[in-house]
Amino acid sequence: MIQLSAKILEKEEVACDHYRLALDAPLISKDAHPGQFVHVKITSQYMPLLRRPFSIHRINSSGIEILFRVVGTGTRLLAEKRVGDELDIIGPLGHGFMAKEDTFTAILVAGGVGVAPLFALAERLRQFTEVKMLIGSKTKTGIICLEKLEALGIGVQVATDDGSLGIKGIATDLLEDFLVTAASPQLPIYGCGPMPMLKVLSEIAQLYSSPCQISLEANMACGVGACLGCVVKMVDHHSPSHFEYKRVCVDGPVFDAKEILWR
Ligand SMILES: Cc1cc2nc3c(=O)[nH]c(=O)nc-3n(C[C@H](O)[C@H](O)[C@H](O)COP(=O)(O)OP(=O)(O)OC[C@H]3O[C@@H](n4cnc5c(N)ncnc54)[C@H](O)[C@@H]3O)c2cc1C
Ligand code: FES
Repeated sequence: MIQLSAKILEKEEVACDHYRLALDAPLISKDAHPGQFVHVKITSQYMPLLRRPFSIHRINSSGIEILFRVVGTGTRLLAEKRVGDELDIIGPLGHGFMAKEDTFTAILVAGGVGVAPLFALAERLRQFTEVKMLIGSKTKTGIICLEKLEALGIGVQVATDDGSLGIKGIATDLLEDFLVTAASPQLPIYGCGPMPMLKVLSEIAQLYSSPCQISLEANMACGVGACLGCVVKMVDHHSPSHFEYKRVCVDGPVFDAKEILWR
């Protein structure tokens, strides 16, 4: 983990209210793994006071990319940054995905901007296995990175709530359809997106005995394990009727789906 001032090398509005920033940060990218995140200080003013976490979207020798959706004050200010501006970032933080190499197909399931960390994972996994990406969103404008994924040779299927692109339905519908017809069982599943989607994903994975890793989001303050602001409930395997707390920032953000207490 390192803190540095990273120059914005590229800025792209990939869709309405969705931006991609390429950051000059080779000292972070050299140790970065898909699923890890950076903690970004958006402004030198008081508000927003806290850093904001963003998944590492792409990793290359010159630095990293982040991909974000504007949801509030911090992301709105971040969207106003220009090429050449500097961002104070800390990273790489947290535990990323464990890429399973001994498999024919890896299934990546993204809800909306959940595609951000799964893109880096897809780039890593495609070096040794077939990658299938299933993306869901409310409507077609929320389906991002489609062309870039296809250009990498990744098979992508899309679901939208309103049927404006792909099937009318949700990403987990695509997953069930795929698993029902898959030749080999127990394919590894990786997911990122809204909690309701991740819960269903976890249930489907259990039904098909598929290993499933999930990237969780939580409100964060310190980002390094000190404040306990990001804890989530996990199954306590020593005492199944109880639960234990884990910190998303240092114990995650990627967890084995079987660890997460969904109720
Ligand atoms: C490990 C981790 C990785 C993340 N990676 C990404 C990423 O790659 N791309 C990305 O766009 N976001 C990502 N997020 C979420 C991102 O950190 C938040 O969207 C951001 O902090 C919001 O800051 P804000 O100041 O704009 O919004 P705030 O002013 O803090 O909140 C504004 C409103 O948005 C709501 N809100 C906050 N976070 C979210 C959210 N995640 N989804 C929906 N509504 C939300 C709040 O409840 C509030 O109502 C990640 C979060 C975590 C914990
Ligand atoms: S954000 Fe402080 S412990 Fe996770």
